[in-house]
Amino acid sequence: MLDIKIEKTKNPKKKPGENEEIEFGTIFTDHMFIMDYEKGKGWINPRIEEYKDLVISPAAMVFHYGQTMFEGMKAYKTDEGKTVLFRPDKNIERANNSNRRLCIPTIPNEDFLQAVKEIVKVDEDWIPRKKGSALYIRPYIIATEPALHVNPSSQYKFIIILSPVGAYYKEGLNPVKIWVEDEYVRAVRGGIGEAKTGGNYAASLYSQEKAHEAGYSQVLWLDGIEHKYIEEVGAMNIFFKINGKVVTPMLNGSILPGVTRNSVIEVCKSWGYTVEERRVSAEEIYKAAKDGSLEEVFGSGTAAVISPVGTLKFEDEVFEINNNQIGEVSQKLYDTITGIQTGKVEDKFNWIVEVK
Ligand code: COI
Repeated sequence: MLDIKIEKTKNPKKKPGENEEIEFGTIFTDHMFIMDYEKGKGWINPRIEEYKDLVISPAAMVFHYGQTMFEGMKAYKTDEGKTVLFRPDKNIERANNSNRRLCIPTIPNEDFLQAVKEIVKVDEDWIPRKKGSALYIRPYIIATEPALHVNPSSQYKFIIILSPVGAYYKEGLNPVKIWVEDEYVRAVRGGIGEAKTGGNYAASLYSQEKAHEAGYSQVLWLDGIEHKYIEEVGAMNIFFKINGKVVTPMLNGSILPGVTRNSVIEVCKSWGYTVEERRVSAEEIYKAAKDGSLEEVFGSGTAAVISPVGTLKFEDEVFEINNNQIGEVSQKLYDTITGIQTGKVEDKFNWIVEVK
């Protein structure tokens, strides 16, 4: 159990209005959680203080070698006014897997959860109530030892910041356009693709810019060895509905094990769908798009929730999926998952954790 020192700000900021359109992740709440790590002492000095700039050495190892990890979670207000989290255990388990892969000291699961709950409690008035909105939680760790040698840092900071958000894409729940990247890759097997760490996102930017310039929202990555098998999209995992079955790339070490991905699989199975987690080639999707058996495509993620895909570009061919309309399963998944998160749909899976 952490002994968290709480010092509240004397200058609370103005909160965004309920109907204000906020660009994803651009507004931050009044407070943040910080805890330091020092070799020999472990994680020390947990505290909640005013959200403010950090003072860090310009030699801090994170700036040079990218030793860092992050998570993405959300807090919601239910209709009854309760503050809840969605499957925080899954994020915490993944955070510590990322930590192990990046030689960052792990944080005991119960301390991580306590820190998330405490900071959310302090800033719970910032949780937006509008449909489709939530308080995005961004826990992250950075290596802070001032040194230029390449080895694991002996000092770290674990920080949690909060940001009221609406939809991740400007399209909202309307279908997005996705570009299948056949030249560059995001991750390779044996690399750090399954860890949630900055480097994977930095590796995605060049292709994403190329896709944006061509009018596409995101890039769909193929595997790094054969450039044949579908992996994931920039900010989400990907699902296909083919001939009534729900198909998604299996976790192979280079794909992020998404919490929403896992939830989609559980919900679809509970509805009686056959869900296949397996290798999915771009060729298979290309053929299914041509012969009409590709019924729906959608992405899943904490930020993106469920995001229908209306257009897929494979090399020189562009396919429209489901007449560029939100598919039936995509809509039902969105309603069910956001419904569970906001207390409108019964939580049969026991995924909700109350913050009190
Ligand atoms: C999330 O969905 O929480 C993510 O971390 C994706 C992020 C790149 C916005």
